[in-house]
Amino acid sequence: MNFDLHNFIILNSIMFITFEGIDLSGKSTQIRLLEDYLKGKKKKVVIVREPGGTVISEKIRDILLDKDHELMDDTTEFMLFSASRRQLTNEIIIPSLKSRHYVISDRYFDSSTAYQGYGGGLDLKMIGAVNSIASNGTVPDITFLLDIDINCWLKRKKSLSRSADRIESKKITYYRKVIEGYRNIARMNKKRFEVVDGSMNIDDIHRSLISSIHRFEKRKSQ
Ligand code: ADP
Ligand code: TYD
Repeated sequence: MNFDLHNFIILNSIMFITFEGIDLSGKSTQIRLLEDYLKGKKKKVVIVREPGGTVISEKIRDILLDKDHELMDDTTEFMLFSASRRQLTNEIIIPSLKSRHYVISDRYFDSSTAYQGYGGGLDLKMIGAVNSIASNGTVPDITFLLDIDINCWLKRKKSLSRSADRIESKKITYYRKVIEGYRNIARMNKKRFEVVDGSMNIDDIHRSLISSIHRFEKRKSQ
């Protein structure tokens, strides 16, 4: 397999933070607050989002989210997310961690496991194997799951009344599976995951993220 195991060792003392959760769970809102907080502490911070974050990955994003692409095969979809991820990892994430930046990613490989695996029914072992290649062996130090239920999602969706992209247009049953999938992934990766109730108010969530980060940093430095 083509990934560099030594990345893990070299990057051992810096923070790679990922945010997961269904659409509208509050990831971008919390990332903005966390970015301000870390920059206020004079930390170097790089923010990326998936799919996207590089010229090549943004082009893949356009293909993925285009509502005209109704014929897209589920495995094609997964491979495109993975291709976008591999490019982002090698072009931005690994170099940024090596130059001692905090990297905060709006989604990473857990999104594929939750959406294409638990939601779409693709084989979870196959997804795990491709995720390792796409991430080049890079594993987040901490992953925040902003957990909201389907009612909270519907409420936020109604209040925004924005038009849905191709992935968002999938059915509610699909979203339920994704929510449950995320909870499973978190249960199976307890050391890396922090599950946060995404229906709490914005400032309370922010405060809880900061204290988790401090706890993880302490644990890492021991
Ligand atoms: P995501 O990036 O996960 O799609 P956003 O951060 O864009 O989510 O938030 C989606 C919507 O929900 C926005 O209108 C945002 O203002 C609102 N929102 C975010 N967090 C909360 C919260 N904790 N409580 C209520 N509304 C929220
Ligand atoms: P985006 O507009 O970035 O949604 P959000 O702001 O909620 O993150 O669209 C990304 C969509 O792609 C979102 O519905 C989740 C989906 N997705 C997958 O299905 N698999 C993946 O691996 C990734 C990264 C995203």
